[in-house]
Amino acid sequence: MAANAARQSLDDCPQIKMSQPNKSESTRGLDYLGYQVAPARWHAGTVTSKTTVKTLLILGASGDLTGRLLLPGLAGLLASGRAPGLRLVGAGSDPWSPEQWQERVKGAFEAAVGGADATGQAALAAVAAGTEYHQVDVTADGPLAELLATLEGPIAIYFALPPHVSQKACEVLHRDQLPAGTRLVMEKPFGSGTESAHELNKTLAALVPEDHIHRVDHFLGKATVLNILGLRFANRFLEPVWNRDHIEKVEVIFDEDLALEGRARYYDTAGALRDMIQSHLLHIMAFLAIDAPATIEERDLRDAVATVLRASSIKAPYTGSTRRARYAAGTIGERKVPDYAAEEGVDPSRNTETLAEVRVDIDNWRWKGVPFILRSGKALGRRRKEAVITFRPVPHLPKGFSGVDSPNQLRIGFGPDVLQLNVDVNGPGDIFTLDRASLVAELNAPGMLPYGEVLEGILTGDPLLSVRGDTAEDCWRIIEPVLRAWESGTVPLDEYDAGSAGPANWPTDVED
Ligand code: BG6
Repeated sequence: MAANAARQSLDDCPQIKMSQPNKSESTRGLDYLGYQVAPARWHAGTVTSKTTVKTLLILGASGDLTGRLLLPGLAGLLASGRAPGLRLVGAGSDPWSPEQWQERVKGAFEAAVGGADATGQAALAAVAAGTEYHQVDVTADGPLAELLATLEGPIAIYFALPPHVSQKACEVLHRDQLPAGTRLVMEKPFGSGTESAHELNKTLAALVPEDHIHRVDHFLGKATVLNILGLRFANRFLEPVWNRDHIEKVEVIFDEDLALEGRARYYDTAGALRDMIQSHLLHIMAFLAIDAPATIEERDLRDAVATVLRASSIKAPYTGSTRRARYAAGTIGERKVPDYAAEEGVDPSRNTETLAEVRVDIDNWRWKGVPFILRSGKALGRRRKEAVITFRPVPHLPKGFSGVDSPNQLRIGFGPDVLQLNVDVNGPGDIFTLDRASLVAELNAPGMLPYGEVLEGILTGDPLLSVRGDTAEDCWRIIEPVLRAWESGTVPLDEYDAGSAGPANWPTDVED
């Protein structure tokens, strides 16, 4: 199970130990959103939420995401022997030949073959040999249902499609056309705003119960993101100081040195706020901010995440709580990067931001007044992917010390996966001079790609690493006022050179 894998990686880490909570069936078939209740057969006992999927059907199989992320993730999972007996079927709008699809699958599996044992190699070979491709217009009434009728269930239908296409494809399906145990898997973005996310949720809820719906956020499959829970809740010393009395601010930074990478079609209508902050970074923030759950079962954990996100908002005026910028031509290492506005497929008049920063407030007893700064951008000079927790200064530094009394900082790196605690100690030479020391631990390298972890949860029927419907809507609710303010031009679109640290006039809150 994906949850077990996550726990396994926590167990492997010398600093972090998690207890093994009991699995319960208490969450089966619950509809958190109060939508139409799914048919009784879902709850009848023969098909449970833990049913193992027999067929993985990828819609959008000829697309970029499938080749770049889904198939390599699946390859790792198969190689580990944790998806026995699975059949893979691809469907797409492109008129691909069976050979073209097989080549794509084989190509994506190749890298995993070397690291696999005999069982893993056999699983990879069997899936590659038995896979097929169908050209299907999933938005037309009929063809998708006809294809489903030929496949062995339970089926996981992975919608690797833009949200409006997924919406349409689900609208033309009827629940009676879905084999028992069908799981619907929605790639991000889930909708394009609160309203469309709500519509999509309603459409999905008419087809299968909430715990058969997997809204993918692959950051939930990253071992380091999951490690936040181990770090926070398996160590006595952190929780008593993990609140507004002791923490000054929390930053979640995801600066990439990648530029557009040919993704203008998607990215130019998304931008950094929708692409990264609305989904991934809000989830990291939630993991940093939740109260301790009793278990890391999906119900307890996802309830805790939902509770904290419901208390979260970005406050006006947005000129104070948000910033946005777009990169201009520059150089990253040896790479020359063109102006974002001049990239192929970009419409400069959309004013798409490639760097976004927001201050989120969590209005509850624990966090009132503590800024949560979320920032992400492309084409920056240095990759920087980490959460930085800055503690308040000591209430009184005994007189007689010299040097700088810097605040304690805990830094959780998301690549490289490193944990760092910055503390003040007496310096060398003059023992009354303060000096900075860093306690650094390298976290264990994850065994599987994030998409592999997420897929395992899907195939074994565990929604723990999937985004719940109410949370998907709430993430849009949090950022929507900012999107509106940016569209109306209230907040200026700043500029930075590709390869720089961001706009020169942005006071960066994060020290190095
Ligand atoms: C994706 C975004 O969801 O996450 C990309 O669309 C981003 O723009 C990527 O680069 C970052 O994830 P990872 O796993 O590559 O660090």
